[in-house]
Amino acid sequence: MVERTVFIHLPGETEAVPAGRLTMIEQGLQVQASTFAYGRRYVTRTNALAVDPIALALVGRNDEERVPAGGLAMFGALRDAAPDAWGRRVIENRLRAPPNGLPESVYLDHAGPHRAGALDVRESPTSPPAGGALPSVVDLRHLLDVAARVEEGEPVPAHLEVFFAGGPSVGGARPKAVVTVDGGEWIAKFPARNDPFNVPIVERATLELAREAGLVVPRTRMETLADGRQVMLIERFDREPLVGGMGRRHMVSALTLLALHEQDSPDSSYAAIADAMGVHGVSGQIASDRNELFARMVFNILVSNDDDHLRNHAFLFDAEGDGWRLSPLYDVVPKPQLAQERMLHLSIGPQGRRARLDNALAGAGRFGLLPPDAARIIDRIVRAVRSWRDIFEGLGVPVRECDRVASAFRRAADIGMRDVDRQL
Ligand SMILES: Nc1ncnc2c1ncn2[C@@H]1O[C@H](COP(=O)(O)OP(=O)(O)O)[C@@H](O)[C@H]1O
Ligand SMILES: [Mg+2]
Repeated sequence: MVERTVFIHLPGETEAVPAGRLTMIEQGLQVQASTFAYGRRYVTRTNALAVDPIALALVGRNDEERVPAGGLAMFGALRDAAPDAWGRRVIENRLRAPPNGLPESVYLDHAGPHRAGALDVRESPTSPPAGGALPSVVDLRHLLDVAARVEEGEPVPAHLEVFFAGGPSVGGARPKAVVTVDGGEWIAKFPARNDPFNVPIVERATLELAREAGLVVPRTRMETLADGRQVMLIERFDREPLVGGMGRRHMVSALTLLALHEQDSPDSSYAAIADAMGVHGVSGQIASDRNELFARMVFNILVSNDDDHLRNHAFLFDAEGDGWRLSPLYDVVPKPQLAQERMLHLSIGPQGRRARLDNALAGAGRFGLLPPDAARIIDRIVRAVRSWRDIFEGLGVPVRECDRVASAFRRAADIGMRDVDRQL
């Protein structure tokens, strides 16, 4: 049995406070079960937040041991605070362990202070935060060298160890690092070994295309190294510079808000996320968040982004509104392919995961949208995505790279725009 203290950064505060005690029962490398109990002092704080929105709501008696929802072994919010694929490779490299060769609690311990969201996991209530200053964007070349070593499973040499100090940072599978830019925190996403096209520049252009289409997108920029390698930077929305330090915003994935297991993600749907927003959202903002989610789904259809799983949708806690708001957009990459019949990861409408606009339109009721309103959103996104080449070229994506991803972009007429036009 492993016992740890969960810390949380409360809104507007630069230091984390202990929130409670996490107990994990591990068998081999896996967590079999876990419990959590809030600290007595924590629950008396007027600004205390629920550590997990589903299983650890702050209502009624808060001094009891609780277990995760939905038969999960781990609390979703803590699973979100653990690294996934890339962060694990970084920790294994540092600890000289084989891939997925460490107990879950070790990954949780070593995720460091720059992990996603507001939670931290430490040995005891008096443990200080882990050190590890973040590298600056000017160190990108060294960070890419570190990432290449991690990808190859080779030890990081001593002179590069310092770039390791900040910890593995955020989740996801692609090589990345957190860097500071003018006092703010940004995620740098690197090229990977087997990329079929220049993913960083295409991802960045796609996010900017989404902004053109009216979606909520963090600031992005490209960095080109002397040797021509390109890195995409995206500003972190779970950090906020405060006087005297950095604030961390409480964030959970849609996987956590739905209390699902990773492997249930392909059986889930955008509509299920829209439903959860109705329960956990901020009153007065639910309709606009659902519109935004609907628009993102349509965008994913039009650019064939089928990596739209439940960890690629996130929610930020809004203390004023006492609820969870849809985070800005991230991780949207077009997937070139030949097939006319395409699927997204999540279900869209009555035709399931079929990536068609008529499917989105027919499912719009679950987002609280009347058909003409849904049609107007679809039309808006279709018009913006139609000019993708102009936008991409304007952002410096070479024609060669545009050609490589062109088959990802759908012609609206081929995927059911007729039904949409009828509503306009
Ligand atoms: N701009 C951002 N601000 C805060 N967190 C982010 C941001 N972009 C991504 N993340 C977090 O980092 C994780 C990994 O990023 P993502 O872009 O999904 O990488 P990958 O392509 O490797 O999946 C996401 O699941 C999300 O939790
Ligand atoms: Mg991702």
